[in-house]
Amino acid sequence: MAKITYIEFNGAEHVVDVPKGSSVMEGAVKNMIPGIDADCGGACACATCLVYVDPAWTDAVGAPAAMERSMLDFAEDVRENSRLSCQIQVTDALDGLVVRMPERQG
Ligand code: FES
Repeated sequence: MAKITYIEFNGAEHVVDVPKGSSVMEGAVKNMIPGIDADCGGACACATCLVYVDPAWTDAVGAPAAMERSMLDFAEDVRENSRLSCQIQVTDALDGLVVRMPERQG
């Protein structure tokens, strides 16, 4: 279980416990947190689950794999710390993770 803080573009914070093995996207969807649409259901094919990983957590989260990177090439509002949240697996090491959602998904 990892405690994850999701921050909407408008500043609203949601702190939830997400089970190990789920994705960061699933943690948001299961808790009905706005800002992560996940239109493709986690198939790395829509980029509506984009998040900005808090700078303190980018090393722990790691870099995107090739498939995710190619989706990010086509996504809007991409920054260096952007990740598709469906591609981030929750582990104990991510307990305390903070992610922010882009305006477009607000
Ligand atoms: S849910 Fe579609 S890319 Fe993540």
